[in-house]
Amino acid sequence: MERTKIGESEGLTFWLAQPEDYDAVMTISEDIYGGKDYLPHRYQDWMTEPHRVVILAKKEGKLVALESGLVVDEGCTVVVEGLRVCTSERGRGMAGTIQRFTDQYIRQLYPTLRVKRLTRGDDPGPEKLAKFTLLDRRAILSLCGEAKSFDDFLSDLNAKIESEPQLVVLDEVQQVKSMLLDSEISSRLQLPGGAFIFDWQPLQPIEGNLEVLQRRNLTWLADRSVSPTFLSVHTPPYPIPYKGGSLRFNIDMFGTSQALAQRALISHLEKVRGVIHGVVLMQVYMHKSLWEGMRRFCEGNMGVQRYRDYWEQLFLERPL
Ligand SMILES: CC(C)(COP(=O)(O)OP(=O)(O)OC[C@H]1O[C@@H](n2cnc3c(N)ncnc32)[C@H](O)[C@@H]1OP(=O)(O)O)[C@@H](O)C(=O)NCCC(=O)NCCS
Repeated sequence: MERTKIGESEGLTFWLAQPEDYDAVMTISEDIYGGKDYLPHRYQDWMTEPHRVVILAKKEGKLVALESGLVVDEGCTVVVEGLRVCTSERGRGMAGTIQRFTDQYIRQLYPTLRVKRLTRGDDPGPEKLAKFTLLDRRAILSLCGEAKSFDDFLSDLNAKIESEPQLVVLDEVQQVKSMLLDSEISSRLQLPGGAFIFDWQPLQPIEGNLEVLQRRNLTWLADRSVSPTFLSVHTPPYPIPYKGGSLRFNIDMFGTSQALAQRALISHLEKVRGVIHGVVLMQVYMHKSLWEGMRRFCEGNMGVQRYRDYWEQLFLERPL
């Protein structure tokens, strides 16, 4: 298919990414997130995902940067993801150039857009964040182990559980839909910035996002199917380049009950037992008040161990 350049700025030309750009995109992605990058797994899905724009920047014909945006929240928000600049071009403002181009390009395509949202795992400090509204910070617990160690880990966790709060699986679209339409959900679950964040992607609890959520193949657990006070969701484990090929397993929790968070962790692990293999990197995203208790709950197993100290996911917004 003949390519059409969609713009140029500051010595860069911009192009819409195509499936056949995969290898070139992987070349500029080699060191990203210490091997825990989701893009090798997601890239081809992004090529066909509705309302997603993936933009490549080239310099002298060579791929140097990528940025992507997904339009959500019934056309009001673009969630930007995937930003990267090839190592040899970093530190010269190129990330700013591709972001500015992407913002104006997507705004032209979707005139209803009002805000741009993103999440990030590093905190560049107040000066760099001044352009954004910091909507919230979530705590992240990072654990790693061989899949076979997770059986033993699960036995340890089960032995530590004192009460038996039960969780229900929300497996009907209708259940998820009524939760999204529940006007109190945001305050009851203390949603960060009033949004759910699933595997780093923020989405407001509104009906228009149901279709986006259905595409994600999520597993939903709640303390009750109507008016839940705790919700926990996992994304199916997916391959990442770490250590020559590992799995990444993300669990997002909403609500502040320690007992329910512990029960949810066990339930999620039971659900992926038999599916996971090789090295598994598990990340649990939660309200900050839960982190210390969850760290202690997960401590003491030789096979599944914490591989990172306390860190946070920042949820940012700026007008578009
Ligand atoms: C983070 C990364 C994209 C920065 O690229 P860079 O071109 O070296 O960045 P520079 O510091 O030269 O560019 C500065 C501009 O990029 C923006 N920027 C830098 N890091 C950013 C980040 N993580 N998220 C959003 N914007 C970022 C700065 O705000 C600044 O914008 P401005 O020109 O509008 O003020 C690059 O280091 C990279 O590819 N890292 C690996 C992937 C990664 O960590 N991506 C971040 C995803 S959140």
